[in-house]
Amino acid sequence: MNYLSRTFGKIILIGEHSVVYGKPAIAIPFDDTHLDVYIEKSDKNCISCKYFEGELDYSNDEILGINKLVDVFLEQYNISEKIKIKIDSNIPHERGMGSSAAAAVGVTKALYNYFDIDYNIEEIFSFANISEKIVHGNPSGIDVNVVANNKSLYYIKNKAFENFPIDTDAYIIIADSGKKGATKEAVSDVKKLVNTDKKYMQYIEKLGELTDMAKTNIENNNIFKLGEIFNSAQDYLRKLTVSDNLLEELIEIAIKNNALGAKLTGGGRGGCMIALSDSLENAQKIKLALDSKAKETWMTKLKIK
Ligand code: PMV
Repeated sequence: MNYLSRTFGKIILIGEHSVVYGKPAIAIPFDDTHLDVYIEKSDKNCISCKYFEGELDYSNDEILGINKLVDVFLEQYNISEKIKIKIDSNIPHERGMGSSAAAAVGVTKALYNYFDIDYNIEEIFSFANISEKIVHGNPSGIDVNVVANNKSLYYIKNKAFENFPIDTDAYIIIADSGKKGATKEAVSDVKKLVNTDKKYMQYIEKLGELTDMAKTNIENNNIFKLGEIFNSAQDYLRKLTVSDNLLEELIEIAIKNNALGAKLTGGGRGGCMIALSDSLENAQKIKLALDSKAKETWMTKLKIK
C-alpha cells in the first residue's frame, strides 16, 4: 500500500517561546525524520498508530487532536464512507521535533488525497490547527507552517511567512534527551511569569532581538557569532524556566566538545537540544559525545532550501 502523504519533522533554530508573543523565530524542516499516512476503506472509522489501535470513537488522549480533525473533515465534506487511517512515523513524539504538526498536516493531506478533493494550503492549515490547538493550547503556528510548506522559515505569528533559505558552512547536531517535552505546560508557565514580573517580558524581547541577529549572521555565514547567539538564547530560555537538567547536561557535553553554541529546541522541559559546529569533523565528535547520554542523535549541514 502506498502512502497518501509524507510530512517531515522540524527544528526551531531560535525563537521558541518568544514566537508566541509576536517575536520572530527561525525554523527548518528536518527530513531525516518523517511521517507517512495511509488510508483504506473500512467498516468503521479506525486508526492505527504507535499510541492507539482501534475505533476512532474509543481513542485515547494521545490522539484526541487527530480524532477531532478527522471528525470535522468527514462532516464538512459530508463523507459517510468509513476509513482506516494508518500513521507510520519515526519523528520522536513530544520532543519538540514537530511530530504533532506532521501528523496533523499529514492526515489532512492524506484525507484530501484519498477522497480526491482539491485543496489549498489554507485548508491544510485550518484542519491541522484543529488538532494543534488541542495538543498545544495556544500554538504560534510555526510548526504547522514549516511542516506544511516544507521550507525553512523566518516566522512571525499571524503574518505571511517568509521563506528563509539557509546556506552556511555549519553543521547542527540534534540530541533527544529521551524525556518527553512539556510544550503546553511550558508555554502556560511562561505566560504566568510574563504576567507577574516585567523582567520576563524583557527576556522575550531579548530572544526576539537574538533571532534577528541570528538571521543576519546566517545570511553572512558568520557561524561563530551564530554559536554565541545560540548560547545567549539558551541563557534567556533558562531564565524563562523552560530548560531542564537533562538538556543542560547535553548542552554542556556539546560545548565541552567544541560546539560553537548549543541550546534547547522547541518547547523545552525535556525534548531536544541542538548544537552548532564549524566542521564535519567536529560535528562528528560532538555527535559521538552526545550519543553517550542522549536517546538519539542526528546531524545535518545547516544548508536548507
Ligand atoms: O515543542 P514544539 O516543537 O511544539 O515547539 C513549541 C514552540 C513554542 O514556541 C514553545 C510554542 C509555539 O506554539 O510556538
